[in-house]
Amino acid sequence: MIKDYNVTQIRADFPLLQEKVRGKNLIYLDNAATTQKPLSVINAVSDYYLKYNANVHRGVHYLSAKGTQMFEDTRKFVKNFINASDVSEIIFTRGTTESINLVASSFCEAFVGKGDEIIISEMEHHSNIVPFQLAGQRHGAVIKVLPFDEDGELMIDDRLEDLITEKTKLISVCHVSNSLGTINDIKKIINIAHKHNVSVLIDGAQAISHLKVDVRELDCDFYCFSGHKIYAPMGSGILYGKKSLLEKMPPYQGGGEMIKEVRFSGTTFNDLPYKFEAGTPSVADVAGLKAALEYVEHIGYENIEYYESQLTNYALEKLKTISGIRIIGNAKRRAGVISFLIDGYHPLDIGTLLDLFGVAIRTGHHCAQPVMEHYSIVGTCRLSIAMYNTFDEIDMFVESLCQAIKMLR
Ligand code: ALA
Repeated sequence: MIKDYNVTQIRADFPLLQEKVRGKNLIYLDNAATTQKPLSVINAVSDYYLKYNANVHRGVHYLSAKGTQMFEDTRKFVKNFINASDVSEIIFTRGTTESINLVASSFCEAFVGKGDEIIISEMEHHSNIVPFQLAGQRHGAVIKVLPFDEDGELMIDDRLEDLITEKTKLISVCHVSNSLGTINDIKKIINIAHKHNVSVLIDGAQAISHLKVDVRELDCDFYCFSGHKIYAPMGSGILYGKKSLLEKMPPYQGGGEMIKEVRFSGTTFNDLPYKFEAGTPSVADVAGLKAALEYVEHIGYENIEYYESQLTNYALEKLKTISGIRIIGNAKRRAGVISFLIDGYHPLDIGTLLDLFGVAIRTGHHCAQPVMEHYSIVGTCRLSIAMYNTFDEIDMFVESLCQAIKMLR
């Protein structure tokens, strides 16, 4: 175990983990869907409403100045957190989905024309598929798909360079798969893409709470994540983009703050990052995002990665002892997302019975229907681990799973 990693103390910081569910201790293993929030995050949100609620960037008064200061301090914090070069490269969004839609819409408007190509992968969440299908239809672009093998590993060496042509403009892939747990070799993808002058968007929704992200080291062109997957409030999210690209991209939405001058004869747009931040942002959620990132920094990625990988291996080993189990996704490098099926039983029945024992997992297609199609399955049961889960919880989860199977027999 890691020195100073005190999971009991970490758990004490998360009020909802102390709650009972159906009279049982809550065992929350649905962290890929959303993470629980530490008290510091909840306090940051309520402090904003209790002490300095006002609109940002718009007022000369005290409250507005205080809100604006916090908002821009958070932008600076995020810039350092992911090691971006400049604060103008950090755009606040509502979450990963909005970040990807922004890129799909605006990047394609600027750089993608009829017959051009965008490459996504077979393991993407729907939010990294549909925005490009929509933008592709508008611009006459073709969507190509990088497949994965039976273990759930992207076929980067065998297939990526064959898919890239002089028409390829963008590759958009997830850092970590939300259904298979695979940690993709995004550095390799980025290097190959750049060799061919192709830009790369990384969907970091499932990576950001588990892995240290350094956008300059990765050299990705865009990276996005949701606050709520990293212990921050829903409604907060980040799009990182290289300044040189963002500057050439048109605004995504029109409204207040994204303009320099508005005349009926025409409008000029604000500088980065405001050009992409139309309308009143979710300021309280941004306050919560800062508190969440501070919390993660305080625990330390090195500790989180080590602890979660021990927990994931433990869960995998225990699950493998259950008769009739099939683990979906066996990548060599994986995060704490484990999809599985129990022979003869529907995932929904397993999930519903586990809920009776206070165990929260997700069942279904996980918004990744092409992954289910790959394996010819309707869905899976999925447990997903966070830094506050314990070995005892894994034991209780496996016990409950065995009981659920007995009940279904
Ligand atoms: N994208 C989230 C998940 O994988 C909601 O569950």
